[in-house]
Amino acid sequence: MFNLLKSTNRTMTPLALFVVAVIVLLSASSVLAEYADVVLNRHAEAEGVRPVIYPHWFHRIRFRCKVCHHELGFQMKVGSNDITMAAILDGKFCGMCHNDETAWGLEHCHRCHSGLPGLKTGIRGDNKAGGPGDY
Ligand code: HEC
Ligand code: HEC
Ligand code: HEC
Repeated sequence: MFNLLKSTNRTMTPLALFVVAVIVLLSASSVLAEYADVVLNRHAEAEGVRPVIYPHWFHRIRFRCKVCHHELGFQMKVGSNDITMAAILDGKFCGMCHNDETAWGLEHCHRCHSGLPGLKTGIRGDNKAGGPGDY
């Protein structure tokens, strides 16, 4: 691609540079964030840890909706679950799976508490999880 650019256009115009920069920025952001990531920060930052980034899509493609939204009791509305670390350690919420059996355990604080300071509770990308039919 670079050779092609060179042969048709000896020096890159500012516009071409801008387009390349935008493409680079867009592809970088799609690596850093996943569609429909959920920020959970009702307590985290106030209690001195980083906000939690919950990759919803990553989990959705591995488990059926009803596992979390019925059997494990997660309310289907961002920010509506009052999740505490004590409850997780007690085997509730994320702790149902992040227990060194179904998934890696709770000692890996930074894997969940990975958000930058200041992020507000909410969903990134879309406020609707586009499942088929009603859920
Ligand atoms: C599997 C994911 C996960 C892991 C691993 C995890 N946490 Fe959390 N933690 C959460 C979630 C979710 C919340 C609730 C976030 C919110 O809404 O503020 C939370 C909340 C907290 C809070 C604030 C609320 C409270 O109960 O005090 C503290 C402090 C905390 N975690 C510390 C830790 C520490 C320390 C570790 C590692 C030993 C850890 N967490 C590991 C998911 C995790
Ligand atoms: C591994 C657990 C898990 C699975 C599986 C899962 N979800 Fe979720 N879902 C969550 C959590 C956690 C939240 C955020 C709750 C919160 O912020 O308190 C959430 C939030 C949502 C929301 C709220 C979005 C908003 O804008 O308020 C919807 C809708 C949703 N899920 C739909 C689905 C659908 C549809 C499926 C299956 C295709 C699914 N979920 C599978 C855990 C899960
Ligand atoms: C139904 C089971 C289940 C629940 C509930 C669950 N997880 Fe997970 N989670 C998994 C599994 C399985 C993996 C993949 C583990 C692996 O790759 O070894 C995972 C991976 C992750 C990852 C890493 C994603 C990546 O890109 O590698 C994060 C972050 C995470 N979970 C956070 C959370 C948080 C925060 C909660 C609670 C809000 C939660 N999980 C609830 C099963 C669950």
